[in-house]
Amino acid sequence: MALSLPPPVLLALTVLTAEVTLSEGSNKCVARNFGHDSVVCVCNATYCDSVGSVTLPPLGRFSSFLSSLAGSRLEPALGQVQANSSGAGLRLTIIPYQKYQRIRGFGGAMTDAAAINILSLSAGAQNQLLQQYFSSEGIGYTVVRVPMASCDFSTRLYTYADTPGDYNLDNFTLAPEDVKMKIPLLQRAQALSPRPLSLLASAWSAPAWMKTNGALTGKGSLKGQPGGKVHKAWAQYYVRFLEEYAKYNLTFWALTTGNEPSAGEMANYSFQALGFTPEEQRDWVALDLGPALHASSYARTHILILDDNRLLLPHWARVVLSDIHAGRYIHGVAVHWYFDKLVPAEISLGTTHHIYPEYYLFGTEACAGWSPTDRGVKLGSWDRAEQYAHDIIDVSSSHLRHKPSDCSVRSAVADVSREEAGSCSTKDLNHYVVGWTDWNLVLDQTGGPNWVKNFVDSPVIVDAERDVFYKQPTFYSMAHFSKFLLEGSQRVGVSPSRATGLQYSAFIRPDGSVVLIILNRSPSVIQFEVWDPAVGYIPSSAPARSLLTLAWNSHYKA
Ligand SMILES: *[C@@H]1O[C@H](CO)[C@@H](O)[C@H](O)[C@H]1NC(C)=O
Ligand SMILES: *[C@@H]1O[C@H](CO)[C@@H](O)[C@H](O)[C@H]1NC(C)=O
Ligand SMILES: *[C@@H]1O[C@H](CO)[C@@H](O)[C@H](O)[C@H]1NC(C)=O
Ligand SMILES: *[C@@H]1O[C@H](CO)[C@@H](O)[C@H](O)[C@H]1NC(C)=O
Ligand SMILES: *[C@@H]1O[C@H](CO)[C@@H](O)[C@H](O)[C@H]1NC(C)=O
Repeated sequence: MALSLPPPVLLALTVLTAEVTLSEGSNKCVARNFGHDSVVCVCNATYCDSVGSVTLPPLGRFSSFLSSLAGSRLEPALGQVQANSSGAGLRLTIIPYQKYQRIRGFGGAMTDAAAINILSLSAGAQNQLLQQYFSSEGIGYTVVRVPMASCDFSTRLYTYADTPGDYNLDNFTLAPEDVKMKIPLLQRAQALSPRPLSLLASAWSAPAWMKTNGALTGKGSLKGQPGGKVHKAWAQYYVRFLEEYAKYNLTFWALTTGNEPSAGEMANYSFQALGFTPEEQRDWVALDLGPALHASSYARTHILILDDNRLLLPHWARVVLSDIHAGRYIHGVAVHWYFDKLVPAEISLGTTHHIYPEYYLFGTEACAGWSPTDRGVKLGSWDRAEQYAHDIIDVSSSHLRHKPSDCSVRSAVADVSREEAGSCSTKDLNHYVVGWTDWNLVLDQTGGPNWVKNFVDSPVIVDAERDVFYKQPTFYSMAHFSKFLLEGSQRVGVSPSRATGLQYSAFIRPDGSVVLIILNRSPSVIQFEVWDPAVGYIPSSAPARSLLTLAWNSHYKA
């Protein structure tokens, strides 16, 4: 908690923002333009661009990493922290005593489609790809969402218990997709990662025989009532899944109550879904899932509710979490990013956090190319990289268009029942998400495979014929966060000296260093300096349409 703030260290007075030689193991992007607004980086079995494993320079210097529409990709540079302000222009002041949420991690999903695509490459290219995501030379993913059985990004429909009437789950069995593809890849990812992976399980549909509509797709929910035979079997299915994966030394940090429960409430929904109302989810957790997990060897596995779009908040959370019987089994609220534009973060995430601060918020799914007006893979799209960075900054923190003392957003928070009257803090501006999970880790050039042709984009696209993979701008967008925000990093306040179009988010890492991520979506360069009261002034500039990560050693206790 306590800060140690020594007197600002006086350092060299001359501005010296020098390009530096890349760290060991680093490689430049082999750029390829596919006719969209920017480029992809091409990787094969023997070559892939990387900044290597990053260590920060000694106190008094700072590192910066730049990606941009113009073609920079995590381009590293070193600079000197200054004793004095340059005096002109925009200043972003780090406010270390304004402390918010701690980061859990970033990652993507090992869908059947992702596994099929990774395994479509040669062994060398597979390793290269897994290293890009999971090794310390890569971008440091620690979260992997694992679909339980099939979803739309599968090539067939299946669950692990398709024998009708198998209430005891005697015939529960993992699929070849798990045993031959996903599990070996997850083991390889874990072996490459310097940290234990945080695996997250989500089911799309219960077996057809458990459901009111007798099918994996369409509008349908579990037969009977919470506390009944089917609801108990469906809870036990989760425990059996955890047991089977544990046999392969894969243990799960968390599970969700099911992917997009609202989808299974829609007529003729085209792919796997299981409908829950918030009331039914509440009672299923309280009577079935919670007790089943608690009685199993996996009592410490977190339960995340919702796993659906934030426009269902805060209502969904209010129904489920205000029930003490359900609430005591639950750790967090999982949100997807679709339709984020329809509902501001303040009134969904912000309000949920303020009513239920003891439950964390976690982003479990996002992808580009899902909207009917902007469909499928777009190789080299910088616009999509900006969409990712914008959303991550927006859900983890506000871009603080207001000064910290400005309370004008309070009135937008319509329904903050536990907020003390008259209190006014920057917390109202912040949205508290502790992690952000991309959707498919890897897709092919059509954005699949997907058995309902619900094709979308991914940060890594394979061309199996040429045995190459393309790292999209969105890959670097993730990297600007995932590579630097180690688990336990805590978001802190940032105060701009004047209104700015920049969006940003600052963190103190567990080792006391500071990371500031800055998104400039404007078509012009924006000069600014950062003031870290513990070390001094950092002169910088954000090129047009760019994403910048600044990182430096400081004196904070995380
Ligand atoms: C892999 O990529 C590198 C860099 O572009 C290139 O020099 C090399 O020839 C490629 N290897 C193969 C087998 O295509
Ligand atoms: C930096 O600030 C100190 C203290 O305010 C002052 O003495 C010094 O002249 C300044 N240096 C420069 C280069 O402006
Ligand atoms: C489970 O599978 C076995 C054979 O593998 C079969 O004999 C048994 O009847 C099945 N159980 C159910 C409930 O279908
Ligand atoms: C299981 O995985 C952990 C890392 O999660 C590793 O340290 C351990 O050696 C593994 N055990 C076996 C038997 O593979
Ligand atoms: C859904 O399916 C039913 C039965 O197949 C059909 O009658 C109905 O028109 C469909 N509704 C929509 C919205 O497509």
